[in-house]
Order: sequence, then structure tokens, then C-alpha cells
Amino acid sequence: MRNSYYVSEEELKKQREIMEEIARENRGKEVYYHIETYGCQMNVHDSEKLAGMLEEMGYKYTEDLEKADVLLFNTCAVREHAEVRVLGRVSQIKELKNRNPNLIIGISGCMMQEKHIVEAIREKYPHVDIVFGTYNIYKFPELLWQALNSRVQVIDVIENTQNVIEGLPIRRDSNLKAWVNIIYGCNNFCTYCIVPYTRGREKSRRPEDIIAEVKELAEKGYKEITLLGQNVNSYGKDLGGDINFAKLLYMLNDIKGIERIRFMTSHPKDISDELIYAMRDLDKVCEHLHLPVQAGSNKILKRMNRRYTREHYLEIIDKVRANIPDIAITTDIIVGFPGETEEDFLQTLDLVERVRFDGAYTFMYSKRAGTPAASMPDQVDDEVKKDRLIRLIELQNKISLEKSAELKGKVVEVFIEGVSKRDPNKLTSRTRTNKVVHFIGDESLIGKLANVKITETKAWTMQGELVEVLR
Ligand code: SAH
Ligand code: SF4
Ligand code: F3S
Repeated sequence: MRNSYYVSEEELKKQREIMEEIARENRGKEVYYHIETYGCQMNVHDSEKLAGMLEEMGYKYTEDLEKADVLLFNTCAVREHAEVRVLGRVSQIKELKNRNPNLIIGISGCMMQEKHIVEAIREKYPHVDIVFGTYNIYKFPELLWQALNSRVQVIDVIENTQNVIEGLPIRRDSNLKAWVNIIYGCNNFCTYCIVPYTRGREKSRRPEDIIAEVKELAEKGYKEITLLGQNVNSYGKDLGGDINFAKLLYMLNDIKGIERIRFMTSHPKDISDELIYAMRDLDKVCEHLHLPVQAGSNKILKRMNRRYTREHYLEIIDKVRANIPDIAITTDIIVGFPGETEEDFLQTLDLVERVRFDGAYTFMYSKRAGTPAASMPDQVDDEVKKDRLIRLIELQNKISLEKSAELKGKVVEVFIEGVSKRDPNKLTSRTRTNKVVHFIGDESLIGKLANVKITETKAWTMQGELVEVLR
């Protein structure tokens, strides 16, 4: 049985027919596309789906914007800075259109789920041909067809419908590591965050669809998967039955050929003992947990609607480390949330020192229209936010360096991902804890697991020596 929120077979069939029609028209022609992606892995993976559809329609990828016939911007709305950058880029690109009037420009992603942004594009960016949102990327072939044939701006943004789409073509960036969606949307409504408004409520994929996708990836030679969701711990709650995230991990761990399983992101309030034990007991699930804490003060956590306290967070960390001793823990932290005083901020620094994260993504609070925090009193000055961010980064860098240094001289298992961009004599690889190790080795080792001895460490990248190739 398909849930009511699946896109219908007929709808997908229609899109497939349009893809075939465009492919027929493109036959014998050299046509190119380029996609600029902003934001999180969810968007990166959506871009892989858009690329997959474009390839089906006969377009080839190009790095060179001048050569592109279709240029897509897949946008992020999480902070104002990202939005300003995208709009700047879209203005610049007008030039390209002047030189190549046949160029089709499309904008998609989270920003397009904001009404005022779509209005601005309608009014100020007439050179944009296609506008669509996060819920209807499967309709891209139809929108492209309309744009190719009509030359008027095609806007198709729908409100939060419960669309889960199976069976879209995907052009993956790597042939070793793959992103796999397991749950879309978010129900948490942290008061600063726009994601629940741009991605809608939680919608889990059926376990059988996920398993089928991962089996197919394994058959194609993929070795590592990263399960994606705004809150993977909520997986399955909307499906009924007794499926949950830990159980899904058990099922995926059995798939032959896959060597490593990662996932992101987890919400602290939903970390269960069952999940901690699954991470401890399953050989393929890597020892890395990204667990955004956001703030160290209970007052701020409450105002953020995070639904845990600093004490609860620290308890989870203790439990995780007691069960999985060498696990790497990373986090996200926001400074300057409305009402954050110096004392509150010191609590964040204190929590960072107590936990000793391996790494942290740190952000200055950014007001998002329509979210509760945007209209809270006591907004913090930019100068204060900047100062706090600098202090936080300084502390975290020191800790990251110290944590990495602990690995010096140790032998660790790495997955070899490719040739190092910085030094073509070296290979680039990752530890199970997601740290990057460069070492001298032959290209034929790419895609293999090996043991390396760590010889030099920085905050996140390390140098090593090959000890033995494992498989
Ligand atoms: N679903 C994930 C992350 C979503 S966005 C989670 O809940 O962990 C990624 C990060 O951006 C968040 O963890 C948060 O730290 C940051 N972020 C979200 N909204 C923000 C805002 N308005 N201002 C600054 N940072 C924000
Ligand atoms: Fe945003 Fe919070 Fe949902 Fe993460 S859990 S996507 S921060 S609302
Ligand atoms: Fe950005 Fe949307 Fe991801 S707002 S962080 S691209 S879910």
C-alpha cells in the first residue's frame, strides 16, 4: 500500500513522457546544464535528482556557465546571508542571458517556499524562466518543457503537500558514497528555524523502498551510504507499525557490499537507548554522531523550543560515550539568539568545554520572517553576535586540534575516497569518525578500506602512512 502522500504513478508517468519528448528534441545536439547548490545535504541530494532528470533529457553537465543551456540555482533559506548571496548571483547571471537568449534559468529549493521571495523574482528578475519549490521537483521536466516552448516565466510553487517521490532518476556526485533520503520535513518548530515552513511536516519513506535503493547502490559498487533527514530519529513515527530508526539501521546493516553507514541529523530529544545500542552493536554504522545542541543555557534552549535541557544533553553525551568510547561528536551552535545575555553565552562556552566536541558548525542567529524568534524582544546586536562567534570558534578550534592530536601515532581504519585535491601524490580518505586523512598511495586503492597510521594532525585533516589494505 502506498501512503496518500506519495506522488501518483500517473503523474510520474506523465513526467517520464515529457522527459522522453525533450530527449528526442535534444538528440544529436550538444546541450549542457549547470546546477549551483546552496544549503544542506538535503538540497545537495535534490540537485542530484534534478541532474538525473536533466541527463535523461539529453543534457550533459558542464562546469562552464557560458556553455550552459540550462542553469539551475537550488537555494537555501536557513540564514539571510545565504539568501542575499543567491539573489546576487541571480542578478549577475542576467549578463549570461543577454549573451545567450536561449539559456533557461531556473530557481528551486527552500527560498522558493517563501512568498515574498517568489514575488521579488516575479517583479525584479524577469530573466528567470522557471521557479519551483521543494515539494514538486518531480515536475521539473514539465516546467522545463513549458519554458522551452513559451518563453514566459513559469512559476509553480505548491504549499506543503505530503509528497514523497519514488523512482526519480539520480545522477550521483560520487560512485562510492551515496546520500539516501529516509525522512523528509520536520515537526519540531525550533523558534529560529524556517525549515518546517519550507520542507513541511515529517514524511518517512517506506523501509522497503529504502532497502531496495540501498541494495541497488550496493550492486552498483557503492560502499558508503549517508541516511538523510532533518531529524532521522523521528523516522517511522508517521508510518504506523513498530518500525523506527534503530530498526531501520539493523535492516540496512545486513545489506552485503555496503561497508559504512552514516546518518544526519539527530535531535537530542529523540535519541533513544535503542539507537545508542544499535550504533554500538552494528559493525557498519560509523562512530560519528552529529548532535546539534544550539545553546548551552536552559533559558535559551527553552526559548528556542528545543525541548531538552543542558543537563539532559550532557547525560546523552555520557551515555553515548560510555557505550561507544571512541565516537566523534559534532554539533551546531547558534550565538546571539534573542534574549541571550553574556551569562547565557558563557553557559554555551562551558558546555562546549565539558563535551569537547570534535567539531562544531557555528552560526550567528539570523532573523527569519514568519518564525516566532523573529518577533521576540531583546534581539542581540550584530557586534555582540560577532564577538561571541569569534570567542566560540577560538575555543572550539583549540578543542578540535587537541582531539585530533590524540590520534597521532594510532592506526585507524579509513575508506579511500579519491586523490587529494591539494596534493596529487596523495590519496584522500576518511576515518569511521569522519576525519580526513591524506597519505601516499596508488590510485588503484580508491574504493578500498585500509589501515593507516596517523603521523600529523590538524583540526580536521590529518596525514598518515599506509599500514595495510583491508579489502
Ligand atoms: N535539522 C537539522 C539542521 C537544520 S539547519 C537539525 O535540527 O539539527 C542547520 C543548522 O542551521 C541548525 O542546526 C542551526 O544551528 C542553524 N540555523 C537554523 N536556523 C538558523 C537561524 N535562523 N539563524 C542561525 N542559524 C540557524
Ligand atoms: Fe529546524 Fe529544529 Fe527542525 Fe532542525 S529540528 S530542521 S533546527 S526546526
Ligand atoms: Fe537550507 Fe532548506 Fe536545507 S533551508 S538548510 S536547504 S532544508
